[in-house]
Amino acid sequence: MNPIDEIKQTRNEARKVHDANADVCFLALASPEGEASVRTLVLRDINENRFSLFINQSSPKWQLLSKGANYQLLLWYPSQQRQFRIGGRSEPIDSEAVRTNWHRRPAGSKYLDYVYKEFAPQSSSLDSREALSVEIERLKSLHKPDDMTPPEEVTGVDLIANDIEMLDLNRDDRIHDRVRFTLSAGAWSSEPLVP
Ligand SMILES: Cc1cc2nc3c(=O)[nH]c(=O)nc-3n(C[C@H](O)[C@H](O)[C@H](O)COP(=O)(O)O)c2cc1C
Repeated sequence: MNPIDEIKQTRNEARKVHDANADVCFLALASPEGEASVRTLVLRDINENRFSLFINQSSPKWQLLSKGANYQLLLWYPSQQRQFRIGGRSEPIDSEAVRTNWHRRPAGSKYLDYVYKEFAPQSSSLDSREALSVEIERLKSLHKPDDMTPPEEVTGVDLIANDIEMLDLNRDDRIHDRVRFTLSAGAWSSEPLVP
């Protein structure tokens, strides 16, 4: 069994029934000091064992990922009663692909990427919400969304899985099905785990 096929199939089924989690994932990171952080992100693409995310280089998560921080990616599809925990290494995505996609983003997301570059990094403190509104109005007066170009800091990251754990809750007897998949020399092997 290939866990990537399992994930793709589960995600497709989740999409069909409008599962709110079908297009998102939960990324946990550990800092060098061992401080944990977790956030919801749009899961852009799954290509072979690569899970693609789009992020901004001003963000704390990029600061960690770019230094090779340990991560775990969690997928949970309530409609399918299936959870996947994914581990491995990470790699920046070829920025051209990210820049092409950026043009399709909603106006608000484009203005925020300009905010991160010209006003304050993502996740930094604001003096007031009003200060951000003033900055957004300033940017709107200068740029029409269709004419905007992606700042250099717009980037993506591929999480390249070599360790995937599936938990399937679809058994009537509640003795859940739990399997760990490990990628070695290009082939996935699996072992059952105590659920
Ligand atoms: C449904 C949902 C989707 C999100 N998608 C993204 C995303 O694709 N990229 C992103 O940078 N932040 C996204 N966010 C915001 C992040 O969860 C987070 O608040 C932000 O990226 C700052 O994270 P950081 O301080 O850990 O770097 C999303 C949040 C939600 C609730």
